[in-house]
Amino acid sequence: MKKKIKDIVKKKNKKKLVCLTAYSKNIAQVLDKYCDIILVGDSVANVLYGMENTHKIKLETIIEHAKSVSKGIKSSLLVVDMPKGTYSNVKNAIRNAKYIIKKTKCDAVKLESNNNNYNVIKKLVSLNIPVMGHVGFTPQFKKKFKVYGSNASESKKIQNEAKKIEKAGAFSIVLECVKKSTSIKITKLLKIPTIGIGSSIECDGQILVTDDILGLSGFYPRFVKKYANIKKDVEDAVSKYAKDVIKNKFPKKQNSY
Ligand code: KIV
Repeated sequence: MKKKIKDIVKKKNKKKLVCLTAYSKNIAQVLDKYCDIILVGDSVANVLYGMENTHKIKLETIIEHAKSVSKGIKSSLLVVDMPKGTYSNVKNAIRNAKYIIKKTKCDAVKLESNNNNYNVIKKLVSLNIPVMGHVGFTPQFKKKFKVYGSNASESKKIQNEAKKIEKAGAFSIVLECVKKSTSIKITKLLKIPTIGIGSSIECDGQILVTDDILGLSGFYPRFVKKYANIKKDVEDAVSKYAKDVIKNKFPKKQNSY
């Protein structure tokens, strides 16, 4: 059965939320059985398009990936990232969020916090557009990677930010690279679920980039656990195919017409 926003929120303090990214139908089909939330992240910029950051990924590109992912989903909640610049004011946020939902039939959009876009979240939610927030390391707005909430004043700042996002109406919030002590405080402070990436086991759920856990992306920071080595599997298969072609072992009779 298709999960709803309320099913996700209800899991807080009861069961951990399992979340992963997907950019295509084939991967989404595999994830669907295990995930509460599948996110079409703007990480597609780095992971698939080899861009140096997420800043230049186009709305149309994310939408095409989300349309593909949507075809692979039966039960998970589909969340689509709003790319940088598409929610810089209330008017363009409404236009673009409605456009994403119309084209992809997603269940919610995610937008990164710049500590100032609470009114955007509030307006989208008032129009029945569910929003997932995102604090800590927010790659659309912060150039340098670092762990957030390590000292008392920064911790307080992120807690306030998260609280305002909840007040604006978000149904969940990603904590990216937030210090464990701060993640604990935010998770206790909020009624909505916190979804951690590099933010400790104390969050209500976890999200990672699927290509990272499969060993496909080659990106393995401390917060990633590699559960497979697909790059090696692909290499093994391709090298066998190349040998077969060169040695005239492929195609065989059964592979030909
Ligand atoms: O773009 C993305 O994949 C994300 C997740 C890492 C949370 O925002």
